[in-house]
Amino acid sequence: MILNKAGDRPRFLRYFFRGRPGKAAQPGLVPCLLLLLCMSPQPLLADDVKGTIQYRQNYMGAIGGHTGALRRLKDGRFTAEGHLGMHAEALVKLTKDITLLFPEGTLEGKTDAKAEIWEDWADFEARANESQQAAQALLDAVQSGDAGVIDTRFGELAQTCKACHKPFRK
Ligand code: HEC
Repeated sequence: MILNKAGDRPRFLRYFFRGRPGKAAQPGLVPCLLLLLCMSPQPLLADDVKGTIQYRQNYMGAIGGHTGALRRLKDGRFTAEGHLGMHAEALVKLTKDITLLFPEGTLEGKTDAKAEIWEDWADFEARANESQQAAQALLDAVQSGDAGVIDTRFGELAQTCKACHKPFRK
């Protein structure tokens, strides 16, 4: 924009461009500040997204591992002192932080996560809470030592995995 007289600019433009008559106007402080404002907060960098997705898949794989191991133990396929409790305790801890693994902006790349997670976050959170409560109930059953109750609580926990995977995982 070439300015002939200082007064040529409409008032609001004076906030955006400053310049001397006859010279091209320079962007002023206001557009620079606006640009900075638009750039923050920084979106997750591509590397961070990849790392987050890989970590959550490892983490979910660990949940799957403990659940599968617990199934073998409760079905009597293997016996080892304290192992039922060990896996149940791990599941209580792991299911507590499921929602931490899904920060917004981690949908691109090699992931089975669905966009619905962030569109319906309250429901996703509720599914995670149910899983956590079911894991706690399973741990309580393991500590009581009643095989029938352990079996029932295990089935209930497995249902909570499905209840989240069905709507939120590809
Ligand atoms: C609140 C939702 C939620 C709950 C509860 C949940 N999952 Fe998941 N799970 C997911 C999502 C979403 C993915 C896909 C993650 C991705 O690919 O980025 C996943 C992925 C997995 C995977 C694949 C990991 C990989 O290597 O890609 C396994 C195994 C798994 N879950 C097991 C379980 C088990 C077992 C339970 C129950 C004890 C459970 N999950 C409970 C949401 C959940």
